[in-house]
Amino acid sequence: MDLGLAERVAVVTGGASGIGRAIAAALIAEGARVYLLDVAEPAELPAGMAGMVHADVREPAAVAAALARVAQAEGGLDVLVNSAGVLGSGGFAEADLAQWRRIEGVNLTGVVVCCQAAIPHLGARRRGRIVNIASVAAFRGGGAVGNVLYGASKAGVVALTLGLARELGPAGITVNAIAPGITPTAMTAAHLGVRRAAAIARRVPLGRLARAEDTAALAAFLASDRAGFISGTVIPVDGGWLAA
Ligand SMILES: NC(=O)c1ccc[n+]([C@@H]2O[C@H](COP(=O)([O-])OP(=O)(O)OC[C@H]3O[C@@H](n4cnc5c(N)ncnc54)[C@H](O)[C@@H]3O)[C@@H](O)[C@H]2O)c1
Repeated sequence: MDLGLAERVAVVTGGASGIGRAIAAALIAEGARVYLLDVAEPAELPAGMAGMVHADVREPAAVAAALARVAQAEGGLDVLVNSAGVLGSGGFAEADLAQWRRIEGVNLTGVVVCCQAAIPHLGARRRGRIVNIASVAAFRGGGAVGNVLYGASKAGVVALTLGLARELGPAGITVNAIAPGITPTAMTAAHLGVRRAAAIARRVPLGRLARAEDTAALAAFLASDRAGFISGTVIPVDGGWLAA
């Protein structure tokens, strides 16, 4: 199926690593012009990437300037994928406010900031797409990996997705979220030893952990013309874990 993404202009936050990087690669494979927005340098640039912009998703001025540069260079912006995120660990009672501010700041405020900066550009061509990377943790208040604070931040992303779908529909912008299951990436590496990974995989009906490419395939579809009438959804990519 041709997704109709050729020459569409996309910004992927958190695109230097893990799921964001896989999403960038999937969009590039579909012919999109893809820019990574990240605080970190990618270990290796995805082949065919249009560019990289350095910005912290919590910083409105930096994000607005970065997106404006992309839109000016490309003549517009069609797709925003919000994948930048940080994990929390440890019990709620022991968690200090600094941890909450860090998690909420990147995972929720970061999405607010990036959406607000992108909306004027996305609305200009009336075919904008926002894809937010939430988590199965949104529905379980954390879980096998990620604590309560992380789950709460991702639940905020779910609510933001629903409300923005309502507000931005009239501007021709779709807003959807993906809730990936546990995926081996830099974020989860410290929590996924061989035995722990195997124990989690046994609880997944489809018998394995998620792969970044599983989420990337859906993100590319939701970013495309083919998903033009899909908005306000939150789709798990978890091998059935939430249903188990
Ligand atoms: N890995 C999992 O199991 C899993 C499961 C569900 C959801 N998610 C979500 O998927 C997204 C991607 O996670 P990942 O596993 O690829 O993690 P990752 O650590 O591999 O990648 C996260 C990226 O976000 C960037 N980033 C962090 N803070 C930033 C900031 N303030 N500004 C800009 N960029 C920033 C990092 O530099 C990194 O490149 C996150 O939102 C995460 O919560 C991950």
